Amino acid sequence: MKVAGLRCISCGSVYDPAELDYTCPRCGPRRGTLEVLYDYDKIKRAFTWEALKRSQNYSMWRYLPILPVEDERYIQPLKVGWTPLYRFDHLAREYGVKELYIKDDGVNPTASYKDRASAIVVIKAQEKGKKVVACASTGNAASSLAGFAANTGLTTIIFVPKSAPEAKLAQLLIYGAKVLAVEGSYDQAYDLCLEAAERYGWYNRSAAINPYLVEGKKTGALEVAEQLDWEVPDLVLVPVGDGSVISGVYKGFHDLLELGFIEAVPRIIGVQAEGAAPIKRAFERYTGAEVAIEDQEAKTLADSIAVGKPRDIVKAVKYIHAARGFFISVSDREILEAIGELAKRTGVFAEPAAAAAYAGFRLLAEQGRLSKSDRVVAMITGSGLKDIAAARRVVGRPYPIGPSMKDVERVLKELEGK
Ligand SMILES: Cc1ncc(COP(=O)(O)O)c(C=O)c1O
Ligand SMILES: [Zn+2]
Repeated sequence: MKVAGLRCISCGSVYDPAELDYTCPRCGPRRGTLEVLYDYDKIKRAFTWEALKRSQNYSMWRYLPILPVEDERYIQPLKVGWTPLYRFDHLAREYGVKELYIKDDGVNPTASYKDRASAIVVIKAQEKGKKVVACASTGNAASSLAGFAANTGLTTIIFVPKSAPEAKLAQLLIYGAKVLAVEGSYDQAYDLCLEAAERYGWYNRSAAINPYLVEGKKTGALEVAEQLDWEVPDLVLVPVGDGSVISGVYKGFHDLLELGFIEAVPRIIGVQAEGAAPIKRAFERYTGAEVAIEDQEAKTLADSIAVGKPRDIVKAVKYIHAARGFFISVSDREILEAIGELAKRTGVFAEPAAAAAYAGFRLLAEQGRLSKSDRVVAMITGSGLKDIAAARRVVGRPYPIGPSMKDVERVLKELEGK
């Protein structure tokens, strides 16, 4: 067994991974999310800088020694991870930092960061002999689960809010998932999926309650560290809804620190939407004792982070505290502007939630909270093609012309004046 134990984030109880699938029975599904423990000394013996340097595996599976996979036969061939980390010096100069990097996870098989977690979960489902996997999702987690389950024989049952963007719904259906489009919010879909999975014995991939998700999500951090030659950045910006992706990013750096690969965990900054910022509020009230949870109704066009009842709030608050990080919030207007600027200035097209990370970077610069020596990474967690309706709101329209050179000349004249 690679996994040495599962530890409750709230009470610290440690469980045998064979003993339970989800959360600490003492603390319940919300406070009792579990951390995956490893025997780092044992892993250190084979998992070294040199071994990684020799590895020809350019996917998240290059980190297999620190992933909770017991049976490698279940690894899907889809290439997930080892996504590009682009350096953009023109923007670094403009915003007054030393280096700015964009980690583009829109290039994953189903076009979001969530593939890193789904790739693990379909393996765990098969190791556990499950036949059905279920998931409630704002869209990306579900479509990635459907994609990664497509080749496994697992049946996939999905609960999404009916309002999920068209592209995400289309992805679910094309991968063959059974889709329940809930007339209600993501938070309601989540509770419904929890109840149904329990009743019917489905393996639940919904955020936070499944401890193995964060392990997949940590691989983005492992890559950032390796791509920067183990010189970790000063700041890493991560968009936050349920708080699982950011918890994964912390866990990745934490594991590297334990293994002696890096000297410190970078400051991790969570970016929430103004209309859905319950983790930011809880963080600001956190004193080191119990995390105070106050839910809200979520209101933002960034559907992937439209979460009012965040399920990984305890981990996210504790981890970001440990990382000397903090949370900020950005408006929908700032998110839309960020989509446009990022695409026009770098060629990276982000969906609204993903662009929130870049909006957060711009906001910190505007508030004078960045320094000239900062090396900054923004995690772009999903492709803009997932939600073109949002992108359309910040662009002009094409010029309609007839099939004649006269029309071309007319438009070119018009454009000259612009
Ligand atoms: C593109 C994108 N960015 C960020 C997030 C936020 O992740 P989490 O809900 O784990 O905080 C999500 C979650 O759906 C997402 O799809
Ligand atoms: Zn507990």
